[in-house]
Amino acid sequence: MSDIKKIMAVFGTRPEAIKMCPLIRELRARPDLCVKVCLTGQHREMAASVMRCFDERADYDLDIMRESQTLSYVTCGILEGFGGVLAREMPDMVLVHGDTTTAFAASLAAFYMGIPVSHVEAGLRSHNMRAPYPEEYNRRAVALASSLHFAPTARAAENLMNEGVSHADIFITGNTVIDALRYTLKDDYQSPYLPASPSERLIFLTAHRRESIGEPLENMLRAVRELTEAYEDVRVIYPLHPNPKVTEIAQRTLGGCERVTLCPPLDVVDCHNIMARSYLILTDSGGIQEEAAALGKPVLIMRSVTERPEGILSGIARLAGTDRYQISATVRELLDNKDTYKKMSGSPNPYGDGNACIKITDALERYFCR
Ligand code: UD1
Ligand code: UDP
Repeated sequence: MSDIKKIMAVFGTRPEAIKMCPLIRELRARPDLCVKVCLTGQHREMAASVMRCFDERADYDLDIMRESQTLSYVTCGILEGFGGVLAREMPDMVLVHGDTTTAFAASLAAFYMGIPVSHVEAGLRSHNMRAPYPEEYNRRAVALASSLHFAPTARAAENLMNEGVSHADIFITGNTVIDALRYTLKDDYQSPYLPASPSERLIFLTAHRRESIGEPLENMLRAVRELTEAYEDVRVIYPLHPNPKVTEIAQRTLGGCERVTLCPPLDVVDCHNIMARSYLILTDSGGIQEEAAALGKPVLIMRSVTERPEGILSGIARLAGTDRYQISATVRELLDNKDTYKKMSGSPNPYGDGNACIKITDALERYFCR
């Protein structure tokens, strides 16, 4: 490679930041690459917290977040703002992650300017446009704008090939979140959020997806309430997303429950270490399904469908749906049946070996040598 190539990484939400920061570190370590970072500001405090944990700084921050922002507002703000950043920097490659509105709008802005896009965590599909919403649309649209596709698993690569993406443009790398765990997990971790007694079982709970908000979220949390009332040795920690709609439902449904801790968003180091010390994980999140698999923690997914079937096939994950009774029954089975628990927690991790960032960076360097 003769000259230094400029890569512009763009992201805006907490999960993108967690999965892009280790990659940015790897890119910065290569002398033939120059890395610029643009935060869209789709999230504010939650993305800032991740940047602090990874000791990363952005070159640009579009700072678009507003309370109860709409998808159209986020899309327009990023198209306009990131378009301006691109016009100024004219990078050789734009790097986007996953399926957020940030990834969609940023890839579209790059596409409009004729700048190649690489998609990290490419090829996930639920094959249902309404779930997750609007992420299934976003990830498909990003694929259309992308030149390189970094698929975390063989199944994700297959999804892309089924949509006509050339085999030569797809790289199976594993998920960068497994790399992130290398930075965050600590043997000597301590926290007041961890149960004081080893006989207590901690359920790590997150729930805040856009399509869950309203009745599905209320149902999920009612199930949790009933479970803590029924099992005296079970404690629940529920870090709340700052979306006011989520906080309101959570406080109303779980506020005052004796063994439920509602807390502000955890920084990523606390989050990963508390998950690693929990008994099981109950979530509607995407990334937490991958982390749970890497940590050997059974994960019950409060959704009707997942774009991450690998965890279910490996045995570490189960779909618990959004129905209160189904969720309750699925959790009870794991709490009551030691054999089921042992089998699930011993399942292999299908999401990579922690070297995704190296593989992605190598592929980018090879692309520039073409
Ligand atoms: C977004 C992504 C979703 C991802 C999730 C991770 C889209 C369409 N959705 O959804 O794929 O799983 O992030 O959390 O891209 N807020 C704050 N501070 C923050 C972040 C959010 O106050 O640091 C509040 C704001 O009121 C904001 C609201 O949360 O308006 C919703 O944020 P938004 O990014 O629109 O949606 P998420 O549900 O977070
Ligand atoms: N997470 C965190 N603090 C919390 C809750 C979650 O750092 O209080 C991390 C979690 O470890 C995972 C990511 O946020 O890496 C998941 O984010 P979210 O569920 O919001 O988004 P998704 O993965 O569904 O896109």
